[in-house]
Amino acid sequence: MITKEIVHFNKIDEFALNLSKTISNSQFIGLKGEMGAGKTTLTRHLIQKLLKNDNLVVTSPTFTLINVYDDNPPIVHADFFRLESYDDLVYSGIEEYIFNSDYIVIAEWYDKIKFKIPKNSLVISMNIISEFEREISIESIF
Ligand SMILES: Nc1ncnc2c1ncn2[C@@H]1O[C@H](COP(=O)(O)OP(=O)(O)OP(=O)(O)O)[C@@H](O)[C@H]1O
Ligand SMILES: [Mg+2]
Repeated sequence: MITKEIVHFNKIDEFALNLSKTISNSQFIGLKGEMGAGKTTLTRHLIQKLLKNDNLVVTSPTFTLINVYDDNPPIVHADFFRLESYDDLVYSGIEEYIFNSDYIVIAEWYDKIKFKIPKNSLVISMNIISEFEREISIESIF
């Protein structure tokens, strides 16, 4: 299943709220799209909605590769842009979470590890349409 829509920056919070309602525990959410497409922005709003805290600070784990929110539901935010080797992936600890049925894993630049994505995944692709508009496609992978 693929859905595709153009989402203005003003609507990203509402989009994230609707998306949060479709996400189940243990789901893997992979994000792709060029730099500045809005992967971190969407992830920030999505984590805020999942954890019901719109003030939560969600920053990109570019250097640490993963940030873990040990909350309810437990969430891992990963960013593989700087991933250079399989060893980096192992050291990041991500595998422990990807195959743990409690955690929701949201991964920017997941296509760097595409060969490892689990079943029950959502793939979200973001494309820049204009300064404040993004085309967002969502595909479920079973
Ligand atoms: N409709 C929109 N959705 C998301 N972000 C938008 C939108 N319109 C404008 N923006 C802006 O685009 C920028 C997206 O930056 P962001 O860091 O989220 O991108 P990214 O895809 O995570 O990039 P990177 O690959 O470098 O991590 C932000 O400054 C955000 O405010
Ligand atoms: Mg980012």
